[in-house]
Amino acid sequence: MDIEALNKQFENSSAEEVLAFFLNEYKGAIALSSSLSYEDQVLTDMICGIDKTTRIFTLDTGRCFPETYSLIERTNERYGIKLEVYFPDYRNVQKMVAEHGVNLFYGSVELRHLCCNVRKIEPLQRALKDLKVWICGLRREQSITRKDMQLVEWDANNSLVKLNPLIHWTEDEVKAYVKQHSVPYNKLHDKGFPSIGCQPCTRAVEPGEDIRSGRWWWENPEHRECGLHRR
Ligand code: ADX
Ligand code: SF4
Repeated sequence: MDIEALNKQFENSSAEEVLAFFLNEYKGAIALSSSLSYEDQVLTDMICGIDKTTRIFTLDTGRCFPETYSLIERTNERYGIKLEVYFPDYRNVQKMVAEHGVNLFYGSVELRHLCCNVRKIEPLQRALKDLKVWICGLRREQSITRKDMQLVEWDANNSLVKLNPLIHWTEDEVKAYVKQHSVPYNKLHDKGFPSIGCQPCTRAVEPGEDIRSGRWWWENPEHRECGLHRR
């Protein structure tokens, strides 16, 4: 795949146009990873409008908010689909917890990364096996760690193409789409949570605060990635 040429080709295309092309071209070898965020719900809505047989999976870390589990059910009902739910390997979780405790992530950046590796990265690698294209809901505006991301990228960690159809979208555009299409969304968004991850590592933010400042809030901003999107 010529990444540069694809970025050029879709420079002025809508997210729907990009998705329609890739879902058709890579049918059976393409999937969306959904954290049930606003962005992922927009992508789910678009994908279901194009091809409902597309794989959509979520990584259940075991530490998600109840609101997120409820949204999995509401999304399945709304679109008549079944999100695939991936779990961490229980042996890795048991070993980690035995050695470092259940709330190890507050201890150090290294322990936090260990938890993200066990609960997210290893299951992600299983979910991505055999895929050629991985669709994500990343937006440049979300964080300083994402400002250079492209619509189409080569993901050397997972040896596949990463597609970010909403890369140029603003938060307002995402919210407007959700409203206009009555897309089911996480109730926590109405309670001051612009970005939602695991319950112990996410808190509400004040209006006007950075949208990811509630994620791993005790760490420096340049560390605030779980490793799913390490480049
Ligand atoms: S994170 O790296 O900080 O956790 P973020 O919450 O911004 O990521 O989500 C960015 C994208 O990563 C989502 O649009 C989704 O594609 C993927 N992602 C993040 N968390 C999950 C999850 N638990 N399950 C599936 N995909 C996820
Ligand atoms: Fe563990 Fe927190 Fe990472 Fe979730 S976000 S996997 S609880 S460290």
